[in-house]
Amino acid sequence: TRVDGIGLLGCGTVGASVARRLLALHPQLVRAIAVRDPHKPRAVEWADFESDPFEVVDDPAVRVVVECIGGVGLARELVLRAIARGKDVVTANKDLIATEGPWLAAFAARTGASLRYEAAVGGAIPIVRAMAGSLANEDVLEIGGVVNGTTNFILDAMSDGAGYDEALAEAQRLGYAETDPRADVDGHDAAHKLAILAGLAFHRPSVSGRIARRGIGALTAEDVRAGAERGWRLKLLAVARRVEEPPAAEGDRALVVEAGVTPAYVPADHPFARPRGAENVVRVVGAGCGELLFAGTGAGGDPTASAVVADVVAALESRERHVPAHAGPDLQTVPLRLPAF
Ligand code: NAP
Ligand code: HSE
Repeated sequence: TRVDGIGLLGCGTVGASVARRLLALHPQLVRAIAVRDPHKPRAVEWADFESDPFEVVDDPAVRVVVECIGGVGLARELVLRAIARGKDVVTANKDLIATEGPWLAAFAARTGASLRYEAAVGGAIPIVRAMAGSLANEDVLEIGGVVNGTTNFILDAMSDGAGYDEALAEAQRLGYAETDPRADVDGHDAAHKLAILAGLAFHRPSVSGRIARRGIGALTAEDVRAGAERGWRLKLLAVARRVEEPPAAEGDRALVVEAGVTPAYVPADHPFARPRGAENVVRVVGAGCGELLFAGTGAGGDPTASAVVADVVAALESRERHVPAHAGPDLQTVPLRLPAF
């Protein structure tokens, strides 16, 4: 039996995109897919969905557990079980990482498991990896921006004349919103992502419960219009910035960071005004790197799956398991036709 198998938990908006991508890339490695209702029709070519996700986690042939269920109940139990068994875990679950990530990572370090969560912030934007890798030694002064696609989509649609309820329903239809969309519109989702970003940026355990938050539920079309008349765009911002120099030597004094989620008017030429629809932007300001911008699609099945699958492949490669090489004829190139600018 191969021991480099992948077990997928959940096959909804994100899980189905992950399944399609993994089945296209590494069909022989996908071992099992667990869902709540195995008889529900879904656009994934898989014959035998499992209804017990714990069986998938316990399957000795599953080495990489991909959690795409969401929430902090069942998903937490499954992730804990996988870590306890020393398996590699990949998750898109910002709720779980922003509430229990620090100790889950510590637990994983003790069992030889790994915990990857690139998809938890910014959908397809590789911000977690950038903060944990290239920018790990940067002296970060500020991090944040627009990190919730659903609210950005709603505010954008309202500025084009749509009603709030109609825009939210469309965001749900497009798969951007959380199962309970109050997590988006009340700012919880943005607070989770900000906690994760702040933890990576400032190298401290960081959880979202301590982040002050206001959502977009009370905003009206008049608020959006009033800003537009002055050349401003209304955005839900999530920003953490250092307000105090860190101690000269790492002591017991806590690093002070101001952090919050709030709707704000942004000048139209500011980077935070740029995201359209479900796009996100994260700005990192560092003493060495200056201003860096990370922008792209922040929500939806395929963009999120791009990040999840990258983590799965990294998990497979990290233990030097057999990852099939690219197959097929050599890459052919043709002359570039420049687009009209
Ligand atoms: P979703 O569409 O609601 O999918 C949830 C999946 O979990 C469904 O396939 C469901 O099965 C399965 N599930 C629920 N209870 C289960 C159980 N008891 N046993 C087995 N499977 C169970 O949610 P989603 O939008 O894909 O989000 C999944 C995760 O990704 C969440 O943590 C979310 O925050 C995160 N995320 C989402 C996005 C996005 O754009 N949607 C982006 C980034 C991160 P059934 O299909 O049978 O109901
Ligand atoms: N509901 C989230 C959003 C999904 O709208 O940004 C991506 O994390």
